[in-house]
Amino acid sequence: MNYLILVNKENKLDKDYIPDNLVKITTKTGGNKTIYLNKLVYKKIRKLLKHMNKLFSTEIVIDSGYRPYTYQNMLLNDLIKEKGNDAYKSIALPGTSEHQTGFAVDIGFYKNGLYDEYFKIEEYLDEFKWLNDNAYKYGFIIRYPKDKENVTGYIYEPWHLRYVGKISKFIYENNLTLEEYLEMFN
Ligand code: DAL
Ligand code: ZN
Repeated sequence: MNYLILVNKENKLDKDYIPDNLVKITTKTGGNKTIYLNKLVYKKIRKLLKHMNKLFSTEIVIDSGYRPYTYQNMLLNDLIKEKGNDAYKSIALPGTSEHQTGFAVDIGFYKNGLYDEYFKIEEYLDEFKWLNDNAYKYGFIIRYPKDKENVTGYIYEPWHLRYVGKISKFIYENNLTLEEYLEMFN
């Protein structure tokens, strides 16, 4: 598996692309939700979340994983209705979302026993700080970091983790995006 595949506004996946090695999981969001993730990515995120859930009183769960082309299209159209053109800064056009690879995970939070569907970043600063500094130990990077909107094309998304394997440490220590890392080494 090429865990370093670059999917962004310039590097697209085919409409029909469905990754191999997806596993079906049930995640506890508002109601139980069935989602799919790459098998190894699921193993790693489970370990990460187990660690995190020992440290924080908030319950942290998987909110989103593999997203088919058509589902991505629906998400984008829903957000366009709500936010107009700003939607393009936070939801990728279908075919340009790395959620279609099965290597990306969004996390979500329970607040006072209820799923916090529209959470505010400011309310989970400790959790996001921990994620930022520790996700690399499990092979993940924060794919859309703060102050890198000019490189990634997306606003800061501290909840969106991307599995890249062992190069995650280098990316973290050098404050890079995946685009910048691949540019350096390709
Ligand atoms: N939120 C990210 C950019 C996506 O839609 O893939
Ligand atoms: Zn995401």
